[in-house]
Amino acid sequence: MMIMRTLILFCLALFLGSGSLMAQDFEYVGAKKCKMCHNKPATGEQYNKWADSKHAHAMESLSAEEAKDPKCLKCHSTYGSVDESLIATLKLDEGVSCESCHGPGSAYYPASVMKDKEKALAKGMIEPTEAVCKTCHNPESPHFKGFNYKEYVSKIAHPKPAA
Ligand code: HEC
Ligand code: HEC
Ligand code: HEC
Ligand code: HEC
Repeated sequence: MMIMRTLILFCLALFLGSGSLMAQDFEYVGAKKCKMCHNKPATGEQYNKWADSKHAHAMESLSAEEAKDPKCLKCHSTYGSVDESLIATLKLDEGVSCESCHGPGSAYYPASVMKDKEKALAKGMIEPTEAVCKTCHNPESPHFKGFNYKEYVSKIAHPKPAA
């Protein structure tokens, strides 16, 4: 019994340990890299829908001074919300970009990985949940208007149309 528990704890530690180590390898590539494959009307035109959303324009809500303030950047830009060492080709002016909700894309954006959801999840893709939204949509925001997940998620919807 004792041995079993120790073994389980050991495996858990190994799993969590390697998980966080691997996360370090996933870098932020920016929305242009996703646009190549996710901007066809037939599959949902995700890039254009995002580009028309407030998320893509979140930096424009900040004054020149505020746009240098880490306190504002951490919610108004993907760039300002992650460790600098993880930034590959992501740009500050993208505002709240794809990868804030879908995870850093450097290892999952290649076609061979993307077409296999399990592989993509193993390579840094995350499934957006209410908790992900609430890292920014919370009372720490000076303009917080409350957050109803169902209502808010429908405002940013960019699904693949049913065949
Ligand atoms: C080389 C082409 C390609 C690139 C680049 C690409 N994707 Fe994909 N993506 C696909 C394909 C193919 C699928 C799976 C087919 C489908 O269901 O549309 C997919 C599926 C997805 C899904 C749905 C996963 C699921 O099944 O729940 C998300 C989310 C996604 N991509 C996000 C991104 C993001 C974010 C980027 C940029 C960091 C990106 N993709 C870049 C081709 C690509
Ligand atoms: C990295 C931070 C961040 C994350 C994560 C985030 N948002 Fe946002 N969201 C913002 C910011 C900042 C704005 C305001 C942009 C502006 O107007 O300057 C915003 C605005 C919005 C708006 C427009 C609200 C309005 O007043 O019209 C909707 C809808 C929204 N977000 C939904 C979501 C949903 C749903 C999720 C999770 C799936 C999410 N957001 C995740 C930062 C974030
Ligand atoms: C905790 C995350 C967070 C922080 C920190 C944050 N914001 Fe925001 N901001 C948001 C979200 C989310 C929205 C969208 C409003 C909503 O739907 O709640 C927003 C909206 C705005 C808006 C649009 C106002 C409106 O009525 O829609 C302005 C302007 C703004 N923020 C400026 C700032 C400035 C300046 C700072 C730094 C002092 C800042 N924000 C810090 C998350 C944040
Ligand atoms: C504010 C968060 C947020 C941002 C920013 C965002 N997405 Fe999404 N995305 C979501 C949510 C939520 C879903 C729905 C997930 C679900 O159905 O469970 C989704 C779904 C998707 C899907 C799957 C569509 C389907 O029906 O199969 C693709 C592909 C995708 N997003 C690509 C992108 C790309 C590319 C960008 C940037 C150009 C982007 N997303 C920006 C939150 C976001």
